Amino acid sequence: MQPHLFLAAVLCTTIAAEDVFTVLRTTPMDEQHLQLLNLLFKEGHKQNLDFWKSPTGIGYTVDIMSTKDKIDELQGLFNSLEMPNNRTIEDVQKLILDREVNVKHRKDGLGSFGKRMRDEAGVANKAKYQFGEYHGYGEIVRWLNEIAQEYPQYARVLSIGTTFEGRNIICIKIGTNTSRTDKKVVWIDGGIHAREWGAIHTALHFIEQLIVGYENNDPVTRSWVDSLNFYIVPVLNPDGFEYTRSDVTPMKRLWRKNRAGITCNKDQWFRDRCCGGIDLNRNFDFHWGGSGSSDDPCSEIFQGTSAFSEMESQAVRNMMLGAELSGKVQAFITLHTYSQMWIHPYSHARKSVPEDIAELKSVGARAVAALEGVYGTKYRFGTGADILYPSSGGSDDWAKAKGGAKYVYLIELRPGEEVWDGFVLDARQLIPMGKETWEGIKVVIGAVYSTEQSNLQRDQITQAQIAQRTRPGRPVKHRGHAIIGRRPKHRVRRPKERRRVKIVRSGRVEESLSSARSVLHRPTHRLRSQPIRPPIARIITQRPIVSETTAQPVQQPAQQVEQPRRPVQQPQQQQQLSQNTRPVQPVQLTQQQQQAVFQQRQQQNFQQQQQSRFLQPAQPQQQPQQQQCRDTSPWCRAWLRQNADVCRVSSIYMSRECRFTCRFC
Ligand SMILES: *[C@@H]1O[C@H](CO)[C@@H](O)[C@H](O)[C@H]1NC(C)=O
Ligand SMILES: *[C@@H]1O[C@H](CO)[C@@H](O)[C@H](O)[C@H]1NC(C)=O
Ligand SMILES: [Zn+2]
Repeated sequence: MQPHLFLAAVLCTTIAAEDVFTVLRTTPMDEQHLQLLNLLFKEGHKQNLDFWKSPTGIGYTVDIMSTKDKIDELQGLFNSLEMPNNRTIEDVQKLILDREVNVKHRKDGLGSFGKRMRDEAGVANKAKYQFGEYHGYGEIVRWLNEIAQEYPQYARVLSIGTTFEGRNIICIKIGTNTSRTDKKVVWIDGGIHAREWGAIHTALHFIEQLIVGYENNDPVTRSWVDSLNFYIVPVLNPDGFEYTRSDVTPMKRLWRKNRAGITCNKDQWFRDRCCGGIDLNRNFDFHWGGSGSSDDPCSEIFQGTSAFSEMESQAVRNMMLGAELSGKVQAFITLHTYSQMWIHPYSHARKSVPEDIAELKSVGARAVAALEGVYGTKYRFGTGADILYPSSGGSDDWAKAKGGAKYVYLIELRPGEEVWDGFVLDARQLIPMGKETWEGIKVVIGAVYSTEQSNLQRDQITQAQIAQRTRPGRPVKHRGHAIIGRRPKHRVRRPKERRRVKIVRSGRVEESLSSARSVLHRPTHRLRSQPIRPPIARIITQRPIVSETTAQPVQQPAQQVEQPRRPVQQPQQQQQLSQNTRPVQPVQLTQQQQQAVFQQRQQQNFQQQQQSRFLQPAQPQQQPQQQQCRDTSPWCRAWLRQNADVCRVSSIYMSRECRFTCRFC
């Protein structure tokens, strides 16, 4: 079939500026559906189809925003192809008004979240920020400045550059003695995409956690802030962010790019049609201009005229390669919304990973487990190209390949598939999202910290050895004892008494650290007799993590409290839903559509045959499912159909979602 014929039919109507915007969610069920969606994704911006969530694979939802009439047509098309779909947001502007404008008058608990935060925090941050709500750039910068004023000994505000519209890109540096530049660095940014307000809030939440932890004398936070430097840029694209705040019309609120290079032309009805703005996350110099980016200034994924053409991406480059950070960045975390994915490099092409992938995977998998352990929020884990789609010129790929960063993760935050409001995330989810994500981030910081400590230790041992060797006439066999006798100068500072922690949330990290330290504090002769491994390899999490080779089931996490789930929808139900077909498409297409449906059925049959090959030993008829052994996602079979290896490759995710299908039980 020729998908572009459908496309032509769908896209040939025009848009009235006042039109209502609607979001349609659909799920490709086979290769043909996916092909059509990919084509729409690539070409659809020309007709104002805005993909909130792009096609990634068979069985994964796609969210498309457009005007109501266009959505009507799309829905007709999808129905005719038996592609399950649902209008998740009938009127986007109304949702924006309800969620983000009229929210002040609501009585249902934003205040109580704030209160709970303070209660848990104990000593409060003297600089106040109303968490659990959205605020503008001015308010955010005011708060950061206030922190720096209150806590000058470990917090400083700096501008890492300016934007096209002349705003400062504000970064807060957190680390004891802010003049020191010799420490290892943890970089965190949010808001590179303007509409992803939840990412900005989450970055701010991390800042709050560091300040509050430090002020409360939390030993872990203290050791991190003392021995590392955090550079946090909560709003990397302030022009775009302020633009999304400037109006409630969906065309503005859902702006993604920066605000440079905008050109407007009158269309044939003398209406302004504007294009431009650069997708900053396609503007970095690693496989710039490759797949998953566009040279069309009207596209949502416009890569810019050259790599680093944009002031915002230049600012990141200049910081990362400048004397202050160069060679020191041990973690680079960039926050996005939405999809609930924890992504490691590389994302420019499928099946492409850096050399130290084993470490990135092990730390990332533990981070995901920690995050999921809080409310049971499910994350997928892998490279962007493998679990999302290939996209070139991303800041994360660049940070890994050229920016010298070690642990690089791009995190797509809430919501996931079970919540339909996408970028217009209910503010009540903000604090839970911040809390759970912080648990994941703490794992990464902990890994950086313990690697750093073990390196320090090793350096000191080496120095001691050199000192021993240069001492003439000393018998070899005594060397080890002599070293033990010499206390290394910068011994790891060890809090008086490692608490036997009962705290559930921070407990894991603390215990991990204490076990890591106990490795470090072994007598040095034992360290010498075996190669020194970074202690991260030894950290034991409380919940077993599935290793790819053993594929053991992971314990079910505590149910998410903030976000009660809808009952899992079965594929049949969705099929039925899609039977409510609207009268379909222009007559001249009917024949092709029929042909398409026919081909699609054939393909389905073929795929079902393929699928049954994988599933042979575990057919439901042959072996009744036990109560606790069942798939919680209706898409397991579709995933498996697409990739026979999926259970192994995505074991962390799949072992929960698809226990039965992947035979994890
Ligand atoms: C369709 O979307 C609406 C939100 O507009 C949601 O309430 C409903 O549960 C969805 N139905 C299905 C079957 O997903
Ligand atoms: C902070 O660090 C700088 C540079 O390393 C050093 O010169 C200064 O003495 C330190 N200040 C304090 C209070 O330790
Ligand atoms: Zn994004």
